[in-house]
Amino acid sequence: MTLTVARPVRESFVREPGAPLRIWAHRGGSSAAPENTAASDEVARRAGVEWIENDVQPTKDGVPVVLHDETVDRTTDGTGAIRSLTAAQVAELDAGSWFAPGYAGLRVPTLASQLDGFQVRGGNLLLEIKGAHPRESVARIVDEIHGRGMSRRVFVQSFEPEHLRWVREFAPELPLGLLRSTLDPDPPVIAKDLGLSAYNPSETAFGIRPDIVADLHAAGVAVNIWTVDNPASWNALERAGVDGIITNRPAELAGWNAAFGQRVKPAATILSPTAGELIEPGQRLRVAVGNNSPEPIAITLDGAPVVNGASIDTTLLTTGWHTVTATVAGSTVEITFEVIAPRL
Ligand code: G3P
Ligand code: CA
Repeated sequence: MTLTVARPVRESFVREPGAPLRIWAHRGGSSAAPENTAASDEVARRAGVEWIENDVQPTKDGVPVVLHDETVDRTTDGTGAIRSLTAAQVAELDAGSWFAPGYAGLRVPTLASQLDGFQVRGGNLLLEIKGAHPRESVARIVDEIHGRGMSRRVFVQSFEPEHLRWVREFAPELPLGLLRSTLDPDPPVIAKDLGLSAYNPSETAFGIRPDIVADLHAAGVAVNIWTVDNPASWNALERAGVDGIITNRPAELAGWNAAFGQRVKPAATILSPTAGELIEPGQRLRVAVGNNSPEPIAITLDGAPVVNGASIDTTLLTTGWHTVTATVAGSTVEITFEVIAPRL
């Protein structure tokens, strides 16, 4: 007898039509507080952001700690590679003063303390397994998550496919994202191979082939773009159909999303001719379409393009029904009118 082991059904991270962009707070609210610390995570929470990104690396003695760079030099008062320092040495470092004096004394968090913070203070963790990790390091990271029963509140991402394979092996229930600085030749293929919930390219890489969104969505895979901090790009990426933005400015993106939710949806209104209007050959007919947005509008009469306001020579129209369509921002309205035989 063959036993079939069912794969866990994971939540979809693909955005519903009209829904706001998902916000992933990059290293916490890192534009406002020291990155990858309890303070920057709290900034993101207070902005109402659900998902907070942190980077995890092992110390010399194998303790997972939250730090982005290979060394502690930039973001602490110490020096040296994180993998050459013990957890006890890292615990002595000041991870706040480099950002502002008011943050003096802030520590490099262990993954354990950061997960405890999520349990006590709320939020979900986008955990990047950063840099090289031996298999046992990834196993330990998963143990920290499992030990707290937090699988439903953690999303793992990495540039390293091997790390994602190990996570899949140790924790098949965890959603996975593949980070990319350059696009794969066929992203859905690697997404299927790794069992990804998300494919996460840089803004630059995505800009080369934005059509990957359609292909990945067809495969049920979300697309999140990093690291994007300006509203013009948020606007363009929303239109391109991406699902989420990884940003250093989560509070600002939350505000942008709120404005997006209040935005009037671009729509056309066909004012002339009116639906069902009866037109005699030779009668004056002007095509007039209202547009509530600055978006360009495309108008057709029986499938042929027409300029808004154009006067139509009705003697050239055959007797019977004709169709006017107007399309703005992908939304189309249409009416039909009838050309009738001249009344005697
Ligand atoms: O979440 C995407 C981003 O974190 C990847 O780049 O260097 O900031 O970890 P990096
Ligand atoms: Ca990261």
